[in-house]
Amino acid sequence: MTELRTAVFPVAGLGTRFLPATKANPKEMLPVVDKPLIQYAAEEAVSAGIETLVFVYGRNKGSIVDHFDKAYELETELHNKGKQEMLAAVKNVLPSHVSCVFIRQAEALGLGHAVLCARPVIGNEPFAVLLADDLVLSEQSCLSQMADVYNYHHCSVLGIENVAEDQVSSYGVIGGTSLKSGLWELDQIVEKPPIDQAPSTKAVIGRYILSHEIFAHLANQGKGAGGEIQLTDAIAKMMKSKRVLGYEFEGRRFDCGSKLGYLQAQLAYGLQHPDLGADFAEIARDELSKLSTQ
Ligand code: G1P
Repeated sequence: MTELRTAVFPVAGLGTRFLPATKANPKEMLPVVDKPLIQYAAEEAVSAGIETLVFVYGRNKGSIVDHFDKAYELETELHNKGKQEMLAAVKNVLPSHVSCVFIRQAEALGLGHAVLCARPVIGNEPFAVLLADDLVLSEQSCLSQMADVYNYHHCSVLGIENVAEDQVSSYGVIGGTSLKSGLWELDQIVEKPPIDQAPSTKAVIGRYILSHEIFAHLANQGKGAGGEIQLTDAIAKMMKSKRVLGYEFEGRRFDCGSKLGYLQAQLAYGLQHPDLGADFAEIARDELSKLSTQ
C-alpha cells in the first residue's frame, strides 16, 4: 500500500469574495483568532501524517512563502527580549520533519490546473488536496478521518457534506450509493450544478485524497464551469475507471471564503480558545445584549 505523504495547497486564487481585504493580502493569510487559515490547513495535513506540503501559489502570495520560512530577524529580536512564548509561536509553525515545496502557478487557470502544477513533485503517489478557506473544527482532524478511510479502502476519498438546496450551485456535488453511514460509493460529480440538475445535495468540501491517475485526466482537461480547468471534471472522468468514495466527515465546516462563514469561524474558534474563550464569551454576550436593548 502506498502511504499518504504529500498534500497540495492551491493558494493561487484571487479571493474576490473578500475584497478589499484580499487586494494585497492572500485570503489564505486571513487570521482566525491568532493563526492564518493556511496554518490551520497545514496543521491538519500534518495531523494526518503528511510530511511534504506543496503550495501552488500565484502573484501577491509571497506572505504565504514567508509564513512557512524561517524569520531570522524576528526570532533574534524575540530571543534577545526573552519573549520565549512568542518565539515558540514563530518557530513552531511546522514541526521540523515537515518540508515545504513552493510551485508558482503563473496564471490562475482553475483548481484543476493548480493541482496539475504539483505533478512533478508527486509523481505516482496518492496525495491530499486542502483548500484553506474551508476550515473544519473537529476532534480528530478532517483529513486524518479521511486518511483512515483511505488506509482501509486504498482509493480516492472526497470530503463531503450535506448543504442547503440554495447552496448546491456553489459546490462540486456528488451522486452515488450509500455503503454505510457516512460513506458513499460515487458514480457522479458535477461542478456547481443548478439545483434541478444536481445529483444530490451532498457537496464536496475542500478536502480530497486522490490517486495519481487524476493527473492524466487533468492533463487532458478542457475548461469547465466558470471557464476554468476544474478538478471536479477530472474526478468525474477518473471515476469511470477508478474507485472514488465520498466521506461525510465529523465536525463543523466554516466557509471562510465568505464573510459570514469567516465571522462564524471567528466566533466558534474564539469561544473555544483556551486562553481567550471565557473572556470572549463575556464580550460576545455583552455585545448581544446591547443589540437587543437598542
Ligand atoms: C471549489 C471546488 C468545488 C468545491 C469547493 C469546496 O470551488 O471547485 O467543487 O465544492 O471548492 O469549497 P470554489 O469554492 O473554489 O469555487
